Amino acid sequence: MSDQTAKLTIGEETFEFPVLNGTVGPDVIDIRSLYAKTGMFTYDPGFTSTAACDSAITYIDGDKGELLYRGYPIDQLAEKSSFLEVCFLLLYGDLPKKNELADFSNRVTRHTMVHEQMHYFYRGFRRDAHPMAIVTGVVGAMAAFYHDSTDISDPVQREIASIRMIAKIPTIAAMAYKYSVGQPFVYPRNDLDYASNFLHMCFAVPAEEYKIDPVVAKAMDRIFTLHADHEQNASTSTVRLSGSSDANPFACIAAGVACLWGPAHGGANEAALNMLREIGTVDRIPEYIEKAKDKNDPFRLMGFGHRVYKNYDPRAAVMQESAREVLELLGVENNPTLQVAQELEKIALSDPYFVDRKLYPNVDFYSGIILDAIGFPTSMFTAIFALSRTVGWIAQWKEMIGDPQKKIGRPRQLYNGVAARDYTPISER
Ligand code: CMC
Repeated sequence: MSDQTAKLTIGEETFEFPVLNGTVGPDVIDIRSLYAKTGMFTYDPGFTSTAACDSAITYIDGDKGELLYRGYPIDQLAEKSSFLEVCFLLLYGDLPKKNELADFSNRVTRHTMVHEQMHYFYRGFRRDAHPMAIVTGVVGAMAAFYHDSTDISDPVQREIASIRMIAKIPTIAAMAYKYSVGQPFVYPRNDLDYASNFLHMCFAVPAEEYKIDPVVAKAMDRIFTLHADHEQNASTSTVRLSGSSDANPFACIAAGVACLWGPAHGGANEAALNMLREIGTVDRIPEYIEKAKDKNDPFRLMGFGHRVYKNYDPRAAVMQESAREVLELLGVENNPTLQVAQELEKIALSDPYFVDRKLYPNVDFYSGIILDAIGFPTSMFTAIFALSRTVGWIAQWKEMIGDPQKKIGRPRQLYNGVAARDYTPISER
């Protein structure tokens, strides 16, 4: 808490509220006593000015374009760390020592298989089901398969549930993909690293060997790292709100997956690639720029803009570099989609509409191009985002459950419906 207080004057009366300081970033006005003191609520749809929790996991400075996991800049982690190191960092607060990483990797690796009965669960879905529909359902269903890790009051069960979800989510996502293309499920291989194992489960077939290229595995690992956490975004807040009622962790993460699916959030990578393909050629870009600027047209440039970043998304910078590496390796650097993306970025960044509104490319703008080049269909993009974000959701959920000040989330409202009135019998309506 700081010595500063905030004063609020309503009519003749002035009320005082404490101001709290974080390590970095904006201070917050502690308004927990507001209703008791004034009989009023605050009004902040979309939570644009509301801190709903305190957290020590991820920090974003949207104006600077800075993203830190436990204090470490995202570009350093993307370059130097493996995804499992990042998972350890997010979950436990610091980078692992060698023996800690070996132990953590071993624990995750030993949980990669899913209950065999789950295979039948998949068969209940239509073959053309969206992978996100399957992943939402299957993650929620984990509570029906792993009863021994649903008691959230037991820290050991919380830990096992966390490891299980991080270990099994690649298997679950890969199975959703295999199911959609009518190929047999591929079991995990524990001799492979996390990213390579995911690629193996997606692209190996019993009929022939699948060779994993280290450049592709590195790009996959980076995509996981760059999406691993992002502070109190919509899906993370959904996980926290779900968890605040003491719901089991599988149900909470399933709620996060469902929220992520929306095109304004995790679904944007799929929408961005579809848009780039629809534009098709560089000469059609001006037409789409005009559509995006037209207030009477609902079209928006997907992969542009961010609620928090009002500067270049630091994840997009790393992703752009990865896109070049992967496309060069796969011999598709003259890929028309990448050409449209590069030109669109250039034009948008010099157009006053985008410059004035600080609309820069976000992480999803380039991740779709990489995933497409690796061979994933667009429908898998958001499922891969969900896979990556699972660790962030879990770290945030664990932080909340461990917080002695935890309360059930219960926003209030400004009611503008009809005030109390007497019931009218149907004959008189
Ligand atoms: N194309 C055209 N105009 C835009 C765009 C866009 N992509 N994004 C924002 N604007 C305009 C918007 O029309 C508004 O203009 P005006 O002030 O004249 O009314 C202004 O910019 C501010 O927009 P907003 O909707 O108030 O901003 P927001 O913070 O509520 O929305 C956003 C953020 C990400 C939902 C939005 O920028 C958007 O829809 N972007 C496209 C979808 C997308 O790429 N989402 C991925 C986000 S990153 C991944 C993640 O973290 O989930």
